[in-house]
Amino acid sequence: MSIARSSAPWDISEPRADGVARILITGDDIQNKVAEIASEIDLEYADDVPLMICVLNGAVSFMADLMQATKIPLTIDFMAISSYGASTKSSGVVRILKDLNDEIEGRRIIIVEDIVDSGLTLQYLLDNLRRRNPKDINVIALLKKDTPAAIPVQVDRIGFTIPDEFVVGYGLDYAGRYRNLPYVAVLDPRVYSNEIPENA
Ligand code: IMP
Ligand code: MG
Repeated sequence: MSIARSSAPWDISEPRADGVARILITGDDIQNKVAEIASEIDLEYADDVPLMICVLNGAVSFMADLMQATKIPLTIDFMAISSYGASTKSSGVVRILKDLNDEIEGRRIIIVEDIVDSGLTLQYLLDNLRRRNPKDINVIALLKKDTPAAIPVQVDRIGFTIPDEFVVGYGLDYAGRYRNLPYVAVLDPRVYSNEIPENA
């Protein structure tokens, strides 16, 4: 594979994209979707100051772009939930690694998630936050995976529905890597079956 660098943000031959099989959603498509969702947020929360909660680490790219595309006043906070580790399937075991800094009682909450797969992580998060008595909660997920075994869970706005494949980029990782890609891509399965050794 060539390691030549290119200025095109969707180049998959650059080192940070090593192991990427194909681009599923381009950076341009993501940015158009972000603008669309942001204008819906502007309408929905015209009379409120909502709290946007980024679910770390995966939602970091989406949240950063989304909040900048909104025109209303809002505040932000972060929560980190344990997820896959270095596997590609959800364990169903969810743990809070970092909690919110502030109380959310009476606030209007926007949860910003990267991807809903089995729905277990989001279900846990919703149950947990509802017990803190916010005024209401809206869930925005960039991606929803078309997973047969998914549990029914509240998702109010989905950016893109994708096939049941493991994806990386735009915040999404495999073993901590690929989050800095500006697009969503399918990883070569040989990367996570260890047939392709990862670069250090
Ligand atoms: P769930 O609990 O199965 O819904 O998984 C939710 C979390 O797992 C997401 O917030 C992601 O962090 C991670 N995840 C699910 N599918 C993928 C994927 O295809 N690539 C990378 N991370 C994923
Ligand atoms: Mg996540």
